[in-house]
Amino acid sequence: MPHSLHTRVTDLLGCDHPILQTGMGWVATPELVAGACNAGAFGFLAAATLPPHEVEAEIEKIKTLTDRPFGVNFLMDAPGADVISEAIIRQGVRAAGYNRAPNAELIAKLKAGGVVCVPTCGAVKHAVKAEKLGADIVIVQGGEGGGHTGTVPTSLLAPAAADAVKIPVVAAGGFRDGRGLVAALAFGAEGIAMGTRFLMTRESPVPEATLQRYLDAEVTDVIVSTALDGLPQRMVNNELSQRLESAGPIRKLALAIRNALALRRETGAGIADLLRSALAMRRNQKLTNAQMILAANAPILARIAMTDGDPAHGYLPSGDGAGVIDDRPSCEALVSRIVAEAEETLKRLCP
Ligand SMILES: Cc1cc2nc3c(=O)[nH]c(=O)nc-3n(C[C@H](O)[C@H](O)[C@H](O)COP(=O)(O)O)c2cc1C
Repeated sequence: MPHSLHTRVTDLLGCDHPILQTGMGWVATPELVAGACNAGAFGFLAAATLPPHEVEAEIEKIKTLTDRPFGVNFLMDAPGADVISEAIIRQGVRAAGYNRAPNAELIAKLKAGGVVCVPTCGAVKHAVKAEKLGADIVIVQGGEGGGHTGTVPTSLLAPAAADAVKIPVVAAGGFRDGRGLVAALAFGAEGIAMGTRFLMTRESPVPEATLQRYLDAEVTDVIVSTALDGLPQRMVNNELSQRLESAGPIRKLALAIRNALALRRETGAGIADLLRSALAMRRNQKLTNAQMILAANAPILARIAMTDGDPAHGYLPSGDGAGVIDDRPSCEALVSRIVAEAEETLKRLCP
């Protein structure tokens, strides 16, 4: 491996290449995480959509599929965050990923347990705060990224974040190839994190019918909508997003209540837990009461597409990259292609 692809991120995470697979709800399963890690990248298990007491068994499953280090991504303000943190420490997991509402106490506990802390932020000021709270690496996700997203493009956010913090920055949002990796390094980042690109691999559990929507999407089919939960979300436009955009408040409320009850069944959280989590979310993200009620929509509607395989009625979180990705390689083929292209690009730029 040439020296230029070896960064502080590969050192801290113990992976071969500065390429991270992010924690995507219902998608970043043990098989995908192990696929990414065995290919020399670094994968995060998506724990936010798992019942907290089942996370440890999923960690153990990853260990049967790979000897490489990996991470677990979860929500620090959700019920069971303490249970997940304890499992991470007990199992010697290399890294913890988190985003909204960093919890100083949990971060201190994870660090004391030797866990590398890797939050994701969408703004420079949040990256600065994350560093102060003890982050070891910060992922900054630009507006091109899938799921909850901001408005600052990756090409502006990554260099600004790299200037603002001392810890290594990983750029996310729209990455898919080796040229993108070199561009991120040029921005001052020390790696890339990819969601959508890993969703479209052989090891991804996404059912064929749903995956086809991603393969068919053009860049203009990937839209940002606030109709799902009041916050901007980037997704592949489909029947659901169109219906939600035109739905009246009563229909939206009925859907939100149904999904809140479904989330309660899925995660085993009690009503009081959900309320506490929703209130914390409102405090941390300055949400209105209406947005708070809608919070369960995204995970439940994503499950309909990602697990049940119904892309017309489910939510299709996606980065802009889906518009230009038209294949489904194995993780191994993908990662080696990215690394080879990055090396060629570096040679072309610095012969
Ligand atoms: C299908 C999908 C599901 C996602 N689920 C989550 C999630 O549960 N929690 C989270 O923090 N981010 C989630 N994200 C955001 C990703 O972790 C990541 O930050 C983003 O996909 C990066 O942008 P890219 O898709 O352009 O690579 C999701 C993204 C996608 C595409």
